[in-house]
This record gives sequence, C-alpha cells and structure tokens, in this order.
Amino acid sequence: CGIVGYVGAKPAAPILVDGLARLEYRGYDSAGVAVLGPSEIRLHRDAVRVRELEASLPKRFAGKTGIGHTRWATHGVPSQRNAHPQLSADGRVAVVHNGIIDNASQLRAELAADGVELTSDTDTEVLAHLIARAHTSDTTTLEQAVLATLDRIEGTYGLAVLDRAHPDRIVVARNGSPIILGIGDREMHVASDTAALVRYTKQVVHLDDGELATLKADGYQTFTRDARTTKTAVTVDWDTSDYGSDGHAHFMHKEIAEQPDSVRRVLKGRLDERFHTVRLGGLEMDARELREFRRVKILGCGSAYYAGQAGAQFIEEVARIPADAEPASEFRYRNPVIEKDTLYVAVSQSGETYDTLVAVQELKRKGGRVIGLVNAVGSSIARECDGGVYLHAGPEVAVASTKALTNMLVGFALLGLHLGRIRDVSPADGRRLITALQALPEQIERILADEDHLAAVAKDLAQAPSLFFVGRTRGFPVAREGAQKLKEISYRHAEAYQTSELKHGPLALVGPELPTVAIVPDDELLERNLGALQEITARSGPLVVVTHDGVDLGVVPAHVIAVPKSEPELDPLLLTIPLQLLAYHAALTLGHDVDKPRNLAKSVTVE
Ligand code: G6P
Repeated sequence: CGIVGYVGAKPAAPILVDGLARLEYRGYDSAGVAVLGPSEIRLHRDAVRVRELEASLPKRFAGKTGIGHTRWATHGVPSQRNAHPQLSADGRVAVVHNGIIDNASQLRAELAADGVELTSDTDTEVLAHLIARAHTSDTTTLEQAVLATLDRIEGTYGLAVLDRAHPDRIVVARNGSPIILGIGDREMHVASDTAALVRYTKQVVHLDDGELATLKADGYQTFTRDARTTKTAVTVDWDTSDYGSDGHAHFMHKEIAEQPDSVRRVLKGRLDERFHTVRLGGLEMDARELREFRRVKILGCGSAYYAGQAGAQFIEEVARIPADAEPASEFRYRNPVIEKDTLYVAVSQSGETYDTLVAVQELKRKGGRVIGLVNAVGSSIARECDGGVYLHAGPEVAVASTKALTNMLVGFALLGLHLGRIRDVSPADGRRLITALQALPEQIERILADEDHLAAVAKDLAQAPSLFFVGRTRGFPVAREGAQKLKEISYRHAEAYQTSELKHGPLALVGPELPTVAIVPDDELLERNLGALQEITARSGPLVVVTHDGVDLGVVPAHVIAVPKSEPELDPLLLTIPLQLLAYHAALTLGHDVDKPRNLAKSVTVE
C-alpha cells in the first residue's frame, strides 16, 4: 500500500494525487484522499485506480493539508467503504495506514459495545475512532492522542493522521512499515516510499520503528513515546525521470530494456582487473572476518528468493562455501538456529519487504551477522543490515521484477567472487569470471534484440492453460523464476521442476496439452538434459528449449531460444532474460495489465 501526505501553502489534492500515482505500483485495489477544508475534513475515496479517482475529484476540494492512500487489501474486500482514508465517527480525524493491527477485532468489539458505529471492515478504522476519542480534554494535543492510541495497538503500522482541530499539521508514526518525510521549501511531504517525494524534494528523513513525527509547513519534529529525537536528512539520488515509462508501453518493458545499463551500474567501480578480484566498499567486514564464515545463508521473498537460490549456487560453486537460500517468510517463523560462523545475506529490491525485514531483525537479536543485497538505498532492510552491496538497478515500478532481479544475480556473483578470491580461487579463475561479468551488458543487448521472435513464442505459449518450466542445478532457479513471472502476469498455471525430477512424478502430466519450457545450457550437464528432452518428446510434449548457440538438441522442439554463452557459473543470468520477455508478451497477448497484476503488490510491507 502507499501513503502520502502534504502540509504547506499549495492546494494539497493535486500533490496527493500525483504522489499516489507514483505509489500505485505498491497496491491498487482502491485509492483515496482527505484534505482539511475550512471547517471540515473532505474525503474522496473509492475502489478505483488513481487516475479514476483524480477524474472524479469534486471541484471544490480545497485544503492545504491532506493525506492520501492507495490500497492493497488485507482486511476487507476492495470497496469504497474499505478504502482509506478512514474517518472517525465524528468526522474529526482521518487516518491512512499501512500494516496490520493484530488486535483490531477486539478493539472493534469494544468500540461497538461503546456505541460507535463501525462503517468499514478495515483494521484502520479503529485507529481513527480511537484517536478521536483519545482527545479527552480541550488541551489534549494530537500527538498525545496518537500516542495514547498506539499504546492500545498490537501490530504493525505506518500511518498518517489528520485532525480537524489541528489544521496546521499531520502526525505520522512508524512501526514496521516505512514512513519517509520529505523536506520542502516551506512545506513538508510524507510518503511510504521515496517515489512519491522525489518530484518535490531530494532531502528525506527515514523514521525508525517506534518513532513519530509532527509535520508543519515550516518543518518537522520527530519524537518517541519518551523523548524528542534528532534526525539527519539524506539526499536521494533517484530522479523523477526514473519513474517515467520513457516511451515504452509498460514499465516492465522499459525495465527489461534498461538491463544492459543497470548491469553496467552494479559493476561500476567494483571490478579490480589488476588483482582479478572484486571491491565491495559497503561490506563493512574485512577479509579476515569474512574468511571466518563457514556457511552462507540467503534470505529473500518471491523473485528475490529465487535470485538467492541462484546466488547460493554461485557462491558454493565459486567460493566453495556451503550456501543455501530460504524464503525469509519461512525462516522467521521456524525458530532457526543462528550460527556465528554463518554469513547471512538478506536480498530485496525494495528493502521494505516485511518478512525479510523481520527475518533480519530476528537474526540480529540472536547475534547473527547479516549483510544486505538491496536496491533501495536507505531502505529499512539496508539500514538494519551490517553493510552490504547496493544493487543500483534504479527504481523498479512494474510488479514483476526484471532489472532488479538481474542485478541481484550480478550482486551475488560479485559477493561470491570476493569471498572466493580471499580463499582459494586462483587469479586466473578470477580473471575468467571478471571477463565474463564485463561481457554481460552487451550479451543482454543481443538477447533483447531477439524480442520479435520471443513475442511469437509467447503468443504460442499463452494458449496453453498449464506449463512446466524445467532446469537442473544452475538452471533450476532460472526455471522457477520463469514460471513465477508467467504466473504473476499472465495468470497461466506454470510449475517449475528440476529436470532430474521429471521422471519421479511430473512426467505423468506431460503430453500434447502441456508444453515444457526447458533450460538447457551448454555445460557439463548437457547430455543429461538432452536425455530429458527425449523423454518429453516421446510423450508428445511440446517443447520450448532455452539454450546456447550451436547446441545439437537431438530433437525438434516447437521453439528454440538461444542466448549467448557466458561462463557456466554465470549462464543462469543470461538464461533468465528471455523468460522475462516470454512472460511480458504472454500477458500482452492475453490482454492483462502487465505492470499491475491482480492480487499482487510490488512491495509487501505487511505480514
Ligand atoms: C512481492 C512482489 C515480488 C517480489 C517480492 C520481494 O511479493 O510481488 O515480485 O519479488 O515481493 O520483494 P523485494 O522488494 O523484497 O525484492
């Protein structure tokens, strides 16, 4: 979900709507804004996209202080009454909220017993009522009322509050869900993501968990329950133009096309050609410390988890340190044994995924050493980790991750090579991989030039209700990510298997109706993979083979997609790229909203 807020001298509504449009990728079930009019809070919200909200905004919607929200439903279906902002019964207080209030049903029951008429199914509504009711005397400040309410809340929140009786301010609070203040010229902004702020200011302040802030036109004050706090503003280097679709039909297409450049950025200044190694200035651990680690454990969610799986294989193969990946969402709940000699790595595009953030916090609580592979600079996960590697992919807007995922794979290669070269990887091997890394941008360009062909393959695949994606060892995370992408945006059923496991079960489903996308790199497992192609063909299963130039497949697949060869350890990265375009064009063929697939959000900052 996305939060925005404004207090200053300008009409708030256009600024709020503009901010929401930039946050829409975070959730888009419904949207709403509230502004402080001369004597009342004006509210406009519905289960619509931001563009429609803007078009339907009442003519008289003036006010210089306001808040807005774009929603990804957790409690309550998307509908007008469940859209945010939520108002208190007396219309005095309006609240927008990200996160989940765990004791909402209990609080709702208490409010109902007290005669309050609840008008939505949301957990957020209770916040509005409680804040309004916490004004027990004329001298209660909004800050006191918010603090008193938060004392009664269990759960997570990023929230912004408007109070008719205090028209000069917005009060915001953070516990587990991001809140970022934007410092303007005699105006203040707030948002849950810098994307909504960069048009107005580059100076931002990240609230920490447990912190609140009062925003007024002339500045801000941060505080906790016990004391005022002092913050240092940081400068964001992402630009408004990074959030434009740049002539592309969709953000996803733009982001796919950007990959040669974004890979150049993540490599920039990090390759040491003299000593055939890698420089990672953000790691905050010297070689002696890094050599002590006996294991690597990677944590992430969704595509980041798949990138982590590929990364673990690279690290284990190159640096010869046992490594594996696990969904952060599982790790945090299973009371894992935290080992002192394990290097934990949290991987995340947004740096705000709640499950990953909590996994990092749990690790730190138990003395684990954790570094981040994170794209969003200054994000919650980046700040929580003991240093790390920034991914420099630039802002990613489409829900389906492309350039950020690719840069995660490069990031793991950099980390793996670094860990390897301070152990027993030879200079010659270092040079081999560095040369391969340097070749990637140009190789990606060659894959992207094959788009027309990939679009034709996608058209064909889009007809199938169900597909398999198969790969083995290095190719397996590629297959998983390929299946995930297709599922996410084309809504086709796609399942990934290890090619080696086909004969242990899934082969029962293979037949003329079920196409298989097989990842077949030209590596030491080629013969084994070719055997599987025979097995599929023998059962009349249509095949799309993603492979390297010059491989004799021994069968005639429906489609062959050949990518440039890298070093075997880096092949997965290039094999992933055509699968992005397959998913993109399949979704286009089926007429889906490519950038905003149903039921999903770009960044899940709730449980
Ligand atoms: C959400 C998105 C996925 C993404 C995952 C992790 O579920 O829909 O596309 O891979 O979050 O996001 P992160 O920002 O942590 O990489």
